[in-house]
Amino acid sequence: MLKIGEFHEPNRKLVGRTVWHYDHVESTNETAKELLEEDLEEGLVIWADRQSAGRGRQGRAWASPPGGLYVSAVLRPKETQAWILGLLVGMPVVKALRHFGVFAGLKYPNDAVYQDRKIAGILSEGVYRRDTYHVIVGIGVNTNVDLDRLPPDVQATATTLKREVNLFVANDEFLDYLLNQIDDLYSRYRNTRIEFLIKDYRGQCTTIGKRVAATTSKGTITGRAYDIAPNGALIIMDDANAKHEFVEGNLKVLP
Ligand code: BTN
Repeated sequence: MLKIGEFHEPNRKLVGRTVWHYDHVESTNETAKELLEEDLEEGLVIWADRQSAGRGRQGRAWASPPGGLYVSAVLRPKETQAWILGLLVGMPVVKALRHFGVFAGLKYPNDAVYQDRKIAGILSEGVYRRDTYHVIVGIGVNTNVDLDRLPPDVQATATTLKREVNLFVANDEFLDYLLNQIDDLYSRYRNTRIEFLIKDYRGQCTTIGKRVAATTSKGTITGRAYDIAPNGALIIMDDANAKHEFVEGNLKVLP
């Protein structure tokens, strides 16, 4: 783990005012957690060129070859709605991808997907340190990665910016735009009613209207993704027209 740079962007409100750049780490989420102290500045971003133990949601691994973008932001939202933040951060990720030429959409909860192939993922984790609640928002984007550098089992369902766009986009350029968008989102999150942000999210969530199979510890529900509830849950209408709320588990979009 070698820190190779530190950047400052004082024009940002909170997120990404300071960025620490590492050549490689095990996982930027873990690095952020190790660094947590009460006086660590909110909005600090840890950025690595590669990860040796990148983690995804639900205990999965996140392949992190060189060329991809791996970042984590340290935030201190109020605990009650922190989960929704992890959902909403999908919006700036999609915005950045679109800005650089990939017309991505959001698969519930926060996967950025282009033509049914995943291009970015988010792992948001809440942790306490000395009575202070922190959220580490980790984002992985397949930017300058060749598809064959990703594990064989994800190649059929993944894509990369390099594969979709005929123009080289440097990671620092992508990160700069992404952090501006996350900074805006986080300020709206702190200052606007969450219902408005959920409405925004709903408009960008391409899962709505599709047939899905949602698997949780309680079993699998098959039906149509119908709406986003005010608490951020995905409402699924099953084939008997009964509504179910899905939050965490495995969600498959059916053909
Ligand atoms: C997922 O879709 O399952 C979430 C993937 C999150 C990957 C990012 S890469 C930066 C940060 N560090 C990690 O170990 N994971 C997140």
